[in-house]
Amino acid sequence: MPHKITLIPGDGIGPEVIESAKRCIQAAGVDIEWDVVEAGVGVVEKHGTPLPPHVVESIRRNGVALKGPVTTPVGNGFRSVNVELRISLDLYACVRPCKSYAGVPSKYSDVDIVVVRENTEDLYVGIEFEQGKENTLEFINVVEKLSGRKIREDSGISIKPISVGGTSRISRFAFDYAVKNRRRKVTAVDKANIMKHSDGLFMRVSEEVSKDYPTVSYEHMLIDALCAKIVQNPKHFDVIVMPNLYGDIISDLCAGLVGGLGIAPSANIGEKCAVFEATHGSAPDIAGQNKANPTAILLSSVMMLRHIGETRAADRLERALARTLAKGTHVTSDIKPSSKIGTKQMTDAIVAEMRLE
Ligand code: NAI
Repeated sequence: MPHKITLIPGDGIGPEVIESAKRCIQAAGVDIEWDVVEAGVGVVEKHGTPLPPHVVESIRRNGVALKGPVTTPVGNGFRSVNVELRISLDLYACVRPCKSYAGVPSKYSDVDIVVVRENTEDLYVGIEFEQGKENTLEFINVVEKLSGRKIREDSGISIKPISVGGTSRISRFAFDYAVKNRRRKVTAVDKANIMKHSDGLFMRVSEEVSKDYPTVSYEHMLIDALCAKIVQNPKHFDVIVMPNLYGDIISDLCAGLVGGLGIAPSANIGEKCAVFEATHGSAPDIAGQNKANPTAILLSSVMMLRHIGETRAADRLERALARTLAKGTHVTSDIKPSSKIGTKQMTDAIVAEMRLE
């Protein structure tokens, strides 16, 4: 029986890297029936929204999706398809492994960090009060009345909720991930010394959860201390769990430690569904030119194959990709600036590596 998986090609370089993923997954020997659905600005005219309900329904039905990047147009009133998907499917955990591969230029070698980012709370909930609006002034008055603290009247305000339930489930997710993947340590990160009732709660709850996992060591670190330590000694870190905003920033920082966004995979996981995608965006500057590095979507595909139980195929694809990167003869120009190799040729080389096994 083939696995039925939703496929969202996306736009920009999306269709190019997704094509590479489809070919490599097939070459790894996994039978998949793709349920192809479109999202993004290209479907707005037809469906009136960049995320039509049938796209969300398809993921709900199949439980798993592989997604290409989707452009978020600035200032047209549409929320990001990515944010919308995470909310409607309650994909509360964003997992971003950042691992060094031989052949990928980077300041560090042997980095192997997994960032687990809470995806549904924090400053990303989108509850904001625009500067100068009547309800903002009203809100400012209420806050002053309740807290006795003054907010300047010409302020814009964003709300940062962090809950016990949200923190508990993301911390448990991080520890369960550590146990399942034989990782040694989970570091919980926040700014608990300053934001005592949001980040402080995150610290308390994650520490509480850690007691249920005696085989995994636990440490707590403030976000500023983590920033210094991670660039001085990335090997100190293993699994890092964080609220939404810090997770967003630190996962890009970690991608930078191992060679950049072109090679960073990610998974957005909920209780019932999981969406796998590259960390990078639609890269309009190189779209349609056969220049996109497929590594990030291929590593996301490796995560997806492990998620659906196709571990051997996942290992096979990762080995073939790692060998291609290490040889360096068939890699895109973001990895090796003198290279004339494009997405298609790099994919051919990875498929050929798999056939050699
Ligand atoms: P971007 O990640 O698309 O591009 C940043 C830079 O990295 C560009 O110079 C690009 O050429 C390069 N790059 C990205 N992926 C690459 C790859 N696979 N191979 C080689 N070079 C690569 O970020 P940007 O320009 O900020 O965003 C473009 C659009 O993508 C925006 O509309 C943004 O909202 C959207 N976006 C979508 C995401 C998603 O669908 N998950 C995630 C991030 C951004």
